Amino acid sequence: NKNEKIQLLRDAIVSYSDFPKPGIIFRDIFGIFRNIVAMRAMKDLIVEHILFLEVDLVVGLDSRGFLLGPIICMELGKPFLPIRKKGKLPGNVVQHAFTLEYGEATFEIQTEYVKKGARTIIIDDLLATGGSMAAAIELLKLSGAEVIECLTIIELSGLKGREKLGIPVHSFVQYD
Ligand code: PRP
Ligand code: ADE
Repeated sequence: NKNEKIQLLRDAIVSYSDFPKPGIIFRDIFGIFRNIVAMRAMKDLIVEHILFLEVDLVVGLDSRGFLLGPIICMELGKPFLPIRKKGKLPGNVVQHAFTLEYGEATFEIQTEYVKKGARTIIIDDLLATGGSMAAAIELLKLSGAEVIECLTIIELSGLKGREKLGIPVHSFVQYD
């Protein structure tokens, strides 16, 4: 059942102190990818959650969101679009700068591939300060999408990222 699947995820995530900077506890999603049972549980949890949302488009964030989005797109029969760190995407892009828990970056999207009003879900491994997710929401709004939910596997609840987003957030494993 759902709680057992969430427990599998929690048990598979490995935490590393002082990475990549002193004071940061890094929650490593790749523990889930090393464990096929946990990886299947993760896919099932995401698909079961999204099925009833009537999503037109799944957007994944550079880089770990790229591991999650296409898996569920295959199940949903919906397209995947990446948001990448700047300078990586060809064609017409729009960009937005942001800060995150341990640095700063700029995101870009190929705006012409977003259909006006597309019901869009943004997926990533982890929500920390919400800086990355807020930038992604901004890019999708500029591109004409309707962002219906932000979905992450892990949420660092103590950083209160969800409060700055103004869009519903769903996560499966929370840390203070
Ligand atoms: C990490 C993580 C999220 C973001 C969350 O990515 O995968 O995308 O930080 O932090 P925030 O909520 O404070 O914005 P990172 O920028 O380290 O990039 P990577 O996936 O390329 O390693
Ligand atoms: N991205 C931002 N903060 C993070 C953390 N503590 N662990 C893993 N990824 C992160």
